[in-house]
Amino acid sequence: MSTHQPEWLDNAVFYEIYPQSFCDTNGDGIGDFNGIISKLDYIKELGCNAIWINPCFESPFGDAGYDVSDYYSAAPRYGTNEDLKCLFEEVHKRDMHVLLDLVPGHTSVEHKWFKESLKAEKNEFSDRYVWTDSIWEEPQGMGCIRGISDRDGSCAVNFFSHQPALNYGFYKPDRPWQQSMDDEGPKATLEELKNIMRFWLGMGCDGFRVDMAGSLVKHDEDSKGTIALWQNVREFLDREFPSAAMVSEWGEPDKSIQGGFHMDFLLHFGPSHYNDLFRCEEPFFSDRGKGDVSEFVKKYKENYEKSERKGLICIPSGNHDMDRLARSIHGDNLKIAFAFLLSMPGAPFIYYGDEIGMRYVENLVSVEGGYGRTGSRSPMQWDSSTNAGFSSAPKERLYIPQDESVDRPTAEMQIADSNSLYHEVKKLIAVRQQHKALQSKGEIEFIYAEKNTYPLAYVRSAENEKILIVINPADREVTFDCNISPKETIYSFGEAVSFAGGKAMVSPQSAGYYAF
Ligand code: NOJ
Repeated sequence: MSTHQPEWLDNAVFYEIYPQSFCDTNGDGIGDFNGIISKLDYIKELGCNAIWINPCFESPFGDAGYDVSDYYSAAPRYGTNEDLKCLFEEVHKRDMHVLLDLVPGHTSVEHKWFKESLKAEKNEFSDRYVWTDSIWEEPQGMGCIRGISDRDGSCAVNFFSHQPALNYGFYKPDRPWQQSMDDEGPKATLEELKNIMRFWLGMGCDGFRVDMAGSLVKHDEDSKGTIALWQNVREFLDREFPSAAMVSEWGEPDKSIQGGFHMDFLLHFGPSHYNDLFRCEEPFFSDRGKGDVSEFVKKYKENYEKSERKGLICIPSGNHDMDRLARSIHGDNLKIAFAFLLSMPGAPFIYYGDEIGMRYVENLVSVEGGYGRTGSRSPMQWDSSTNAGFSSAPKERLYIPQDESVDRPTAEMQIADSNSLYHEVKKLIAVRQQHKALQSKGEIEFIYAEKNTYPLAYVRSAENEKILIVINPADREVTFDCNISPKETIYSFGEAVSFAGGKAMVSPQSAGYYAF
């Protein structure tokens, strides 16, 4: 199934906003919609033309909003539905686009559907979640909630134990309580999901990042059921909202694209080897030069081939679930890492603050189900004013404590310093925007990505344009066989590569883009 892709996605560079921590305009210590609006010019100035906002709906915030208690209402801590609509309008005024975070797999236990489904007497919501028919039977392979209802049964959970799994059916039901995708309950859940999408798209959002998109149909080993479910959603979108963009958190682009998604995230867990690059003991992006990029490239190529050789795999700089990039990558390596991230196919996603090298805040007590993720979710550091310009609230009321180091980076400082990471990222985005070959759909061919060796080299191409990218984070000169004779250096950090006699000599700690 080949899905029409909204044109703006071709050159989209996303900025992920964790709304709690971005900008607080009402002094309660928590970010809000007006705060996001006030910083849209900053995001645009950086060069990003699209944003993804983590869940901003009513929720008890046991998982930072990934536990929704009302899909149709903005969380009051951020503002009203009207404020969110205004945010959409402000985004569009700047020729930017906005994705909301859709959480289709589970709700909060506080959701009224779940409260109804707990009741012994059958009602409209009895089948909205995955329930067994006896408290003594647990749903296989899933955790469960039990012993809190008049209803006899255990309810499957999708993530934390306060996130009951919505019922989209089982691929091949084999217990009496397991429903098929065509049963009334699962069909009603799917229709409700479409209603939710219809509601926010109708209000002006441009699409969704979809949480755990591959998890919906249960006992669905090859994901055939879940793919069919998303194809059904795709038909609805084609009919009613053909320009809506859909980006999945799935990590299997072949499946997600069959399901009608436009792009899929490369995940930091599972088989992607993403962590080999940035988040392991010897990351590839380190001047120590002891990392290995080859397994990552191998997996990437497999997925690329399987997904119609399209630029559909989105590589994030980080996100609210993983350690900050700057926890393991430092100094110039951050710039070199961005030279890679911003020259790969698919839409790049920059996690707020990564563009200024915001650090992971160590040793924090978990906030709202963050656990180890909490340190990556601390409030944005804007400037040298109180609470780094994030909020006027007393420090102890901030959503999460901020980085206390005297040399903590701020956007203001980085903007003032022309050699900063901020300026490198800005430059890289601008170069990407000027060259089709570097954008989402440009092809990629890896030229050099050998085991335990540097550099990494690949060619991006589109129409008549071909660009060689050479990335060498290692603190030593390296060479590789290369028969390409570049015509023009369109970007370089550190000394440019010299090409002679079928060899390319790559200086230590460098990154370059060469048109040929
Ligand atoms: C993935 C989200 O990114 C994460 O933050 C959340 O905790 C789980 N899905 C559950 O929704």
